[in-house]
Amino acid sequence: MSAQTKLAVVYYSSTGTITAIAQEIAEAAEKAGAEVRLRKVAELAPQAAIDSNPAWAANAAATADTVEATPDDMVWADAVIFGSPTRYGNIASQLKQFIDTLGGLWAEGKLADKVYSGFTSSATAHGGQESTLLALYNTIHHFGGILVAPGYTDPAKFADGNPYGTSHVDAQGNNPVDDTTRTAARIQAERVVKIASALKAGLAA
Ligand SMILES: Cc1cc2nc3c(=O)[nH]c(=O)nc-3n(C[C@H](O)[C@H](O)[C@H](O)COP(=O)(O)O)c2cc1C
Repeated sequence: MSAQTKLAVVYYSSTGTITAIAQEIAEAAEKAGAEVRLRKVAELAPQAAIDSNPAWAANAAATADTVEATPDDMVWADAVIFGSPTRYGNIASQLKQFIDTLGGLWAEGKLADKVYSGFTSSATAHGGQESTLLALYNTIHHFGGILVAPGYTDPAKFADGNPYGTSHVDAQGNNPVDDTTRTAARIQAERVVKIASALKAGLAA
């Protein structure tokens, strides 16, 4: 078993907000010593829908080379951080579809005993960030995963104010990912790597 902690950042993003947070988390986790796979899940929307929204088309083009997530990424990882925009207070169907392909691994117990965490973004401040993360976290319990939320474990968490996971209010595309959200992303990445590394070392002992 490799000593280096393996982290998969598995996300869906239409218009790029979640992409930006995913990239920040991946970079911070690498700096914290993890081997990182940054993976987008497969798009389900028709091309016409993507083309009708310039921000969606731009994000699709900018992430064309980002590798798509596969179930093997879940097996490989010691820790997984999922990211999804808030969709009616829930995760996006694209991420749910990926999660729903994992039933075989779940049945084999291969999703258990890993560290999990999540991040989201929404258009509005009370638009369902917490319900989205809690909905995502329902699945982690079914996996037998170890949920590592950021809590208020760093003074900077009182600035973004979301103990459930990194979150950002994009104001319909008018508020790009800022320093407060990037700081929250780094705190979450570092905490996940720290706890996953301790768990990995403990299990190997
Ligand atoms: C179908 C749909 C449902 C959405 N539902 C919500 C919602 O419940 N609350 C909210 O504040 N924003 C909602 N949004 C806005 C997105 O969550 C928000 O713009 C998000 O930051 C987009 O992330 P992305 O840029 O990574 O795609 C919704 C957007 C779409 C397309």
